[in-house]
Amino acid sequence: MGNGVSLIFLQQLSHRFRFDGRVSDIEAATGSAGEVLKVPTTANSRVPYAVQDGVAVLTIDYPPVNALGAEVRAGLLDGLARASDDAAVSCVVLRGARGSFVAGADIREFGLPPQPPSSIDVFAAIEGLKKPIVAVIEGVALGGGLELALACHFRIAAPGAKLGLPEIKLGLLPGAGGTQRLPRLIGFAAAVPMILGGEPIGAAEAAKIGLVDALGDGDMLRQAAALVRKQTAGRPPPRIRDLTAHVEAARRDLVSLDDALAGLVKRARNRRAADAAAKAVRGAATLPFADGMALERTLFLELRDSPESKAQRYLFFAERTAAKVPPKAATAEPIAVKSAAIIGAGTMGGGIAMCFAGAGIPVTLIDRDDASVKRGLDTIEGNYRKTAARGGLTGDDVTARLGLIRGSTAWDAVRTADIVVEAVFEEMPLKQEIFRKIDTLAKPGAVLATNTSTLDVDAIAAVTQRPEAVAGMHFFSPAHIMRLLEIIEGRKTDPRVLRTAVMLGKQLGKISAVVGVCDGFVGNRMALRRGSERLMQEGALPRDIDRVATEFGFAMGPCATGDLAGLDISWRIRKAKGTPAPVADWICEQGRFGQKTGKGYYRYEAGSRAPISDPEVEAFIKAKARELGHAPRDISDEEILDRQLLPMINEGARILEEKIARNASDIDVIWANGYGWPLWRGGPMYYADQVGLRVIRDKLVKYEAQLCDDRFHAARLIHELADAGKGFADLPPNDR
Ligand code: CAA
Repeated sequence: MGNGVSLIFLQQLSHRFRFDGRVSDIEAATGSAGEVLKVPTTANSRVPYAVQDGVAVLTIDYPPVNALGAEVRAGLLDGLARASDDAAVSCVVLRGARGSFVAGADIREFGLPPQPPSSIDVFAAIEGLKKPIVAVIEGVALGGGLELALACHFRIAAPGAKLGLPEIKLGLLPGAGGTQRLPRLIGFAAAVPMILGGEPIGAAEAAKIGLVDALGDGDMLRQAAALVRKQTAGRPPPRIRDLTAHVEAARRDLVSLDDALAGLVKRARNRRAADAAAKAVRGAATLPFADGMALERTLFLELRDSPESKAQRYLFFAERTAAKVPPKAATAEPIAVKSAAIIGAGTMGGGIAMCFAGAGIPVTLIDRDDASVKRGLDTIEGNYRKTAARGGLTGDDVTARLGLIRGSTAWDAVRTADIVVEAVFEEMPLKQEIFRKIDTLAKPGAVLATNTSTLDVDAIAAVTQRPEAVAGMHFFSPAHIMRLLEIIEGRKTDPRVLRTAVMLGKQLGKISAVVGVCDGFVGNRMALRRGSERLMQEGALPRDIDRVATEFGFAMGPCATGDLAGLDISWRIRKAKGTPAPVADWICEQGRFGQKTGKGYYRYEAGSRAPISDPEVEAFIKAKARELGHAPRDISDEEILDRQLLPMINEGARILEEKIARNASDIDVIWANGYGWPLWRGGPMYYADQVGLRVIRDKLVKYEAQLCDDRFHAARLIHELADAGKGFADLPPNDR
């Protein structure tokens, strides 16, 4: 669209989208000949229009997050047309209601037939407006929200604002000009990580790199209008599409751009989306603006319709469902958590302390002797220093967080803490002893949480005089990095405690899911069912099992993961339970506990984490298979995959039958965030639904007959759903 066309274009659009209380048949805003589209007529209620001292203020008001739904887009056009026509208006301010700008496209619309006007057309109209328009960014400007701001002539941000293009996390790319406008504005070096990494940046950083023209505070509208007056002073409003300096610089050094893009594509969890985003960004460097926009659109539409993005969008909503307070606790009064005490200064305790400090909650780390406390505190400090060295925290952040963490061998802090988290060794008698002591000291009303990963929370609660105060909070290692939190509701857990735990999870920045008590809860219970041990007993090698898992999309296979986590704890648990595993037990009997001993299922060179196949282990596996009566055979990749995934899915179905998980999607959230399940495959229960439960059932029946292994005995729920032609997603939520 050329310079002179913009006003005509805007007028055409505004006439098409003039609303009169009816649904009107109108020509497509995109101009595709003959296409007739229906546009809702309530647009203005989403973007109220007001004029103040010659400034038109358009406020996007679409709860909860001002997403760019069809009504918002139409309302924006209507507002632009009014401002354009209004002789009393000299400039336009665009802002979001409820203290936040715009969280992006309305993700719920992606699966539905497109509704005009498109974001691209609305943004083109904004960019082409003859009167200057400024985006006032408070709260978040994410995805399409940031792209909207980039279409404006100026941007001003409030402190605390977050700006980013997180589309890649949904298996998408910024599809409304983000890949073309952002590099033109801030340069490719700054834009590439934002587009391919998806992490938002803060207002100060945005000002530093030129993403916003100014930082404001207080009366943002007045400051926005002043900014426009200062910057325009009779000149035509600037458009990012016309900026050329960064494009020219990138063209002179395409090799560096390609290297940067390739590096990020290689690390991406959804390669397809990253690859498409990289192509679009490269287009910004090599193509004219309009052609770059067309390329971006084509790539966006391909991604939008891809199974990978559908799975990631499913997970987005699944995470929000999982994070909701269960209905029975929804009205309970939560306990304000202003201080915490953690028992156990080991790896888990230290990581959990960092989570509290990160949320600004003072925390005391307690262990039995000075050396253990010191070791814990030193590790925390080391972790913070490493993060700061990578640029993840400022020196001030590190000082502030360290200032919130205290170490002690005395239990005084337990008396005053609002929450006490036990993070000691995974042994029931020890945990019970700790809880007896906590019970005698903690103040009435405190939450008593155990970080157990497998043990019976009810049995732990039972040793206290207040089992209603006890819940499980299962953090994942390293706790300050892993975002998953399994919240375990005991039989007697009080709704207040449950609600507090869920709200605290959010405050700590975790993705939480509430589950019931059973051995291993959801994640570990399913993980224990993975069939790698049995496959090895039949002669499959660790490297083949892991290769199939990584080809499926797991970051690591089960054997390499075991080596990383350490094999000795499960060995001890197996011995305690009397459940031998001939291959895994032999590995441990050789003192091969994984990476920490330089040997496990694989061997490791000193200082390296790269697994190397070990002939000694492979010879043992082959011999063991013969000893157990398994004739040597090639086990196909399909069988290896099926035998790893089917028992997990089957166990997931039993977990739903037993009402341990509320929703199948909660199980998916746990696996995607705590166990390396490939995000773009949605989670094990989603995957099973995509395959179809009839196919899953038939395979389970086949393997049960072949292996005489009850892990393949299809759960009743799978039979019922398969017979009814339904999937796990069709189940209503379980209420415990
Ligand atoms: N579309 C539709 N609904 C959305 C949404 C969106 N972009 N963003 C959030 N919501 C909904 C959530 O589903 C949730 O709904 P329920 O209450 O019904 O569960 C509600 O808004 C609140 O969301 P959160 O629980 O996440 O609230 P929060 O305060 O913790 O976080 C947020 C707010 C930071 C905006 C967070 O929701 C978020 O990151 N949203 C997604 C941002 C995003 O990915 N934007 C890109 C969209 S794709 C795009 O824009 C494509 C393009 O280029 C055109």
